Amino acid sequence: MLKIPAIVELEVKNHAVEQMIERTVQSTNILRLRKKEDTGPSHLLIYEMGEDEEKDFSYIQTKLNASESAEIFLTSAKTDSSLLLRAMRMGVKEFFTQPLQEAEIQGALQSFIKRRKDAQSGSHGKKGKIIDIIGSKGGAGSTTIAVNLAAGFLRKNKTGSVALLDMNGFFGDIPLFLSLDPLYNWSEVTKDIHRVDETFLMNILTRHASGLCVLPAPPTSNSYVFPTADTIEHLLDIMQRLFDVIVIDGGQSFDDASLKIIERADSVLLISSLDLPFLHNTHKMLKNFDYLGYPSKDRIRIVLNRYKKGTEISLDDARKTLDHSIFWTVANDYKTASSAINHGKTISSIAPDSMINKNLLGLADRLIKGEEGDKKKRWHLFGRRKDAGK
Ligand SMILES: Nc1ncnc2c1ncn2[C@@H]1O[C@H](COP(=O)(O)OP(=O)(O)OP(=O)(O)O)[C@@H](O)[C@H]1O
Ligand SMILES: [Mg+2]
Repeated sequence: MLKIPAIVELEVKNHAVEQMIERTVQSTNILRLRKKEDTGPSHLLIYEMGEDEEKDFSYIQTKLNASESAEIFLTSAKTDSSLLLRAMRMGVKEFFTQPLQEAEIQGALQSFIKRRKDAQSGSHGKKGKIIDIIGSKGGAGSTTIAVNLAAGFLRKNKTGSVALLDMNGFFGDIPLFLSLDPLYNWSEVTKDIHRVDETFLMNILTRHASGLCVLPAPPTSNSYVFPTADTIEHLLDIMQRLFDVIVIDGGQSFDDASLKIIERADSVLLISSLDLPFLHNTHKMLKNFDYLGYPSKDRIRIVLNRYKKGTEISLDDARKTLDHSIFWTVANDYKTASSAINHGKTISSIAPDSMINKNLLGLADRLIKGEEGDKKKRWHLFGRRKDAGK
């Protein structure tokens, strides 16, 4: 329960809209509507936009400036994404387009109650695990693994909420892999990081049918402000409070923002292959990490993609060359991998029984299980105990 009941003020012209909001507020049994005799400030203002947008926005800004802890929800008969974005940038927490959906208002009010409870108890919510996926060379399979691993976490139903972040600049192609048509991308975050909070982020994420929340890369190079170490730090803080797992398609970049992700990640998956140029690059990356002083060796997981038995270079050769254990292998199956991309679907939805799918779900499982699972699997991969724990 909230220690002090929060007061909700309505400034709504449309009578039907007003009635529905009033009913929903009353049904929470925790919030109460503002009464005439109330003299103190309201904790939440639900405001309906009129014809004069500029006047409305300047009024909202005044309200926001007047009380830092109060929140504003807007409703409007207009459905215009630029209106929504402007409102979010100002600090408006929710935007309901009309006709209103009662469930949407209920959900927003419950989130408002949770934010107040967290603020009163000093709780900052969860701290999601960050999994950064880096290709040792272009085409290593980072995006295939990022997308299917993220979906695999949800499918395994062992984690609550999963976000997928594409850090590939304008070459990012996650929307293609998942048939998404995103309205927003991370340039909304890097443009004005100080406006970004949990609510802003949740409003710009694109939801996939699986429940995966995706923050894609900008589609063009001229439309974005490059992320910095600071913007990434702020974004990751927010994402960790909102999600249980954050999967990042880190591509191959080593700029400041990418290094910050590597530094913060709980697991860095280095995607390689039993192929000399891939192993050569992987070796260079490991040396580079050593030189940087992070991530620690136990957080670097080498994943060999396109694995098939009987190749000239064996798993053991790779382990010796890299002087690092091999965390996981993903079967070579171009037909399935490319067909999933062509249909914009996850591999598990088009080929649930394929080895590549089993490997990807197994990888999700192993990352969830953590270190305990590691030892057993290493035994299995190499068939001998001396690999365990390396
Ligand atoms: N295990 C696999 N077996 C066979 N083909 C695969 C496998 N994984 C990925 N591929 C194929 O390799 C190609 C490149 O994959 P993907 O786009 O995931 O790589 P990437 O590392 O993200 O590439 P980029 O460097 O362009 O971002 C795709 O055609 C994909 O279908
Ligand atoms: Mg890619």
